[in-house]
Amino acid sequence: MTADQEKKQAALEAVKYIEDNMVVGLGTGSTAKHMIEAVGALVAKGMNLTCVPSSDATEKLAKELGIKIVALDEIEKIDVTIDGADEFDANFQLIKGGGGALLREKILAWNTKFNIIIADSSKDVEKLGAFKLPLEVIPFATKQIITFLEEEGLKPVQRMKGNDPYRTDENNNIVDVDIFEVDDLKALEIKLLKVPGIVETGLFLDTTSLIIVGKEDGPEIKK
Ligand code: 5RP
Repeated sequence: MTADQEKKQAALEAVKYIEDNMVVGLGTGSTAKHMIEAVGALVAKGMNLTCVPSSDATEKLAKELGIKIVALDEIEKIDVTIDGADEFDANFQLIKGGGGALLREKILAWNTKFNIIIADSSKDVEKLGAFKLPLEVIPFATKQIITFLEEEGLKPVQRMKGNDPYRTDENNNIVDVDIFEVDDLKALEIKLLKVPGIVETGLFLDTTSLIIVGKEDGPEIKK
């Protein structure tokens, strides 16, 4: 089974948790794309869903598929959000933001009753950190933040798009850092978020309710 087949299998399993009249949060990335297509199929069959996108790309795809999209401030709470991850461990701790949508994804997760992560089996890791942790940072402060992160031994690298700094949907920069040697991720999260200009980190530590992993012999559901 290819990674993409595993992603699709996990996505198709996850949409079974969606019920009529729900408010659904839509994640971002190649795994979430399969889920958005499956949500589109549910809507085409007549299911009444209201969806909140986690990125401009997700919003565009959802609209093309005829999915009803609203802004976060038009609803009270999201019933279920389905999103991908770059890495997850046995304690349901995640690294997200490979696709640059971590800020809105984390806002969605925070405002959701039941968060489902969908993934191919390569995302299942013993220790987080082989994937570099994305930090969303304000352009005004990026240079000084990089200096701070270097002093902390986190080997920061500013994400680029060609010759220009990568910009998020919120018009911020991304700096990717190496956290493989860090054991206390909660302490790291607190330390990073104290720095003025670091808007958000891609650490999702206590937000996930369920993880669905695509597997050769059928989806694995981790609770
Ligand atoms: C985007 C994300 C994605 O969920 C994460 O990067 C996984 O992407 P993919 O499903 O393409 O592997 O956090 O910001």
